[in-house]
Amino acid sequence: MESVTDAERATKQQKKEADMISKKMQKAINEQINRELYSSYLYLAMSAWAELQGYKGAGTWMAVQAQEENGHAMKFFRYLLDQGATVELAAIQKPPTEFKSLASVFEETLKHEKFVTSCIHDLMTLAKAEKDYASEILIQWFVTEQVEEEASAAEILGQIKMAERSPGVLLAIDRGLGQRKAD
Ligand SMILES: [Fe+2]
Ligand SMILES: [Fe+2]
Repeated sequence: MESVTDAERATKQQKKEADMISKKMQKAINEQINRELYSSYLYLAMSAWAELQGYKGAGTWMAVQAQEENGHAMKFFRYLLDQGATVELAAIQKPPTEFKSLASVFEETLKHEKFVTSCIHDLMTLAKAEKDYASEILIQWFVTEQVEEEASAAEILGQIKMAERSPGVLLAIDRGLGQRKAD
């Protein structure tokens, strides 16, 4: 009787290990959680800076973006737990407190999102190499999301650059940014 139970337990354990994502993937996703949380922190810092400079709309836009980044981190967090993998939260880097201008805020946003895109692509490369189909599907969502993130940062940057010498237009753009609502 005892040996049957042991055998069953061993089979179950083997199955669990086979289902679980690799240690390498686990580590890579944990690192991505940290990046998404840093993104949230960075946009929160930008939000505070913008509001203090009188760009209330950009402040709102960045606060919503910070929330969205938190949501990205939680998507990966949930996935690790659903896979029975370990969540390992690391220290979050300190974001800057000062920015040169509203244009530079969105320039830095675009630059940062391009970096995040490259990290997501690295995750996809790993998932494909490991034939990790479940992770691949999750990461696919982020590949699409990054296209949107880069496009919206580039669009806003373009508008701000065109309006740089006309405060009235810049104010109108800022008011438009303030319309953004959390999803
Ligand atoms: Fe993100
Ligand atoms: Fe987004």
